[in-house]
Amino acid sequence: MRLAVNGLLTSLLCVSAAIPTFAADNVTFSDDERTSIISHGPWPPKVSLDPSNRVSGNKSAIAFGRELFRSRFLSASRQHSCITCHKPNAAYADGLALSSGVTKVDRNTISLANLRLNRWYGWDGGSDNLWAQSIRPILDARELNATPALIAKRLRNDPPFSRGYQSSFKTSPNAHDDEQVLVNVGKALAAYQETVVTPRTIFDDFRDALARKETKQAKPYPETAKRGLKIFIGKGKCGLCHQGPNFTNGEFDNAGVRYFKPSGGIDKGRFGGIQKLKKSPYTLLGRFNDDPKNSLGVATRHVARSHQSWGQFRVPSLRNVLRTAPYMHDGSLAILKDVVQHYSTLNEERLHLDGGGLLRRLDLTDIEIDELVAFLETL
Ligand code: HEC
Ligand code: HEC
Repeated sequence: MRLAVNGLLTSLLCVSAAIPTFAADNVTFSDDERTSIISHGPWPPKVSLDPSNRVSGNKSAIAFGRELFRSRFLSASRQHSCITCHKPNAAYADGLALSSGVTKVDRNTISLANLRLNRWYGWDGGSDNLWAQSIRPILDARELNATPALIAKRLRNDPPFSRGYQSSFKTSPNAHDDEQVLVNVGKALAAYQETVVTPRTIFDDFRDALARKETKQAKPYPETAKRGLKIFIGKGKCGLCHQGPNFTNGEFDNAGVRYFKPSGGIDKGRFGGIQKLKKSPYTLLGRFNDDPKNSLGVATRHVARSHQSWGQFRVPSLRNVLRTAPYMHDGSLAILKDVVQHYSTLNEERLHLDGGGLLRRLDLTDIEIDELVAFLETL
């Protein structure tokens, strides 16, 4: 998979090297197009601390969370850790179609970055906050396979981890409330993960130059990428779902990917995510939310399953997307060109839309497909 991506990159580099650098750049954008492009920035955006997590932004908790993230301490067998699947040198993903802990799971590992911008977490939005999403793999039998009692016991009895806990929460692990100890582990993990932000790219330089109405950019943006960008905001309608600076509207949709699980059965997507959310003790509506005003909990109270939420998945961010292959919730598309081809030859019948669907088969030419890929690679 990785080789395929590298191969593609190399061939694209060769193509761009073949284009003479003095070629006149004749891609121009209308005022409406300019407005759309500017809406995909600025980057990095300003983010606030998480009011539901009292250690969000806390230096000791970030250091403690980093230790926990890398340690096998959180897995029942002491054989796995978060970095089994979220490898820091692989964009905090694992490059596999389907990830594997104790056993194989049904979904593709989500690359961890820019997490403060999410409204919902997981492909199905099964969590409404980052600390709960961080607890999920600890308890999942296929991933780290632990229990609240096991994690609390280990923390109480392990002096270095106990000290990390103490310096983060100004109290030692509670002797009677296992769930509280587990949630605080999730909160330290969240504080650490919030610090992972993708860097600015040449797209951001181009976007800022447009916003400043500069005709000559300090750093040139390739003409093929500009053509791809035109398709992205234009006839591709990609920007309708992949909106804003993080290239996602943060909600759920159906992009025509199969929802039969590779292991058999059906992945209910958002429908199942809402079921999980309603049952979980770890949401913004529960006792572990540190925000007395609970400003964000309203959405959790009102979210409801509908026929439409069957087979919907979260619209993923496209930041850093070149590095997060393979793609889609089931990792079924290996490289970016496959994704663009998927949209180009989309089987509209598979979308089971209740009217109002935004996606249509695009029938792009080979050149347009390459241009759209070239644009995505600049993110
Ligand atoms: C066995 C592989 C595996 C392990 C181990 C694992 N994860 Fe994940 N992670 C995944 C998969 C797969 C998803 C997507 C889950 C889904 O949507 O069903 C995911 C999703 C996430 C997300 C959601 C990101 C987003 O944008 O919504 C976070 C946060 C996360 N993991 C944190 C962690 C932490 C913290 C640990 C360690 C305690 C961990 N993961 C351990 C595979 C793993
Ligand atoms: C109707 C909303 C919608 C539109 C329009 C849309 N997408 Fe998507 N996109 C999604 C959803 C939802 C997913 C995840 C689907 C899944 O996993 O089942 C996705 C996934 C992707 C992915 C995979 C990212 C990853 O990390 O796995 C890429 C790349 C992508 N879209 C690019 C595009 C491009 C390019 C266009 C325009 C041609 C486009 N999208 C149009 C909703 C949309």
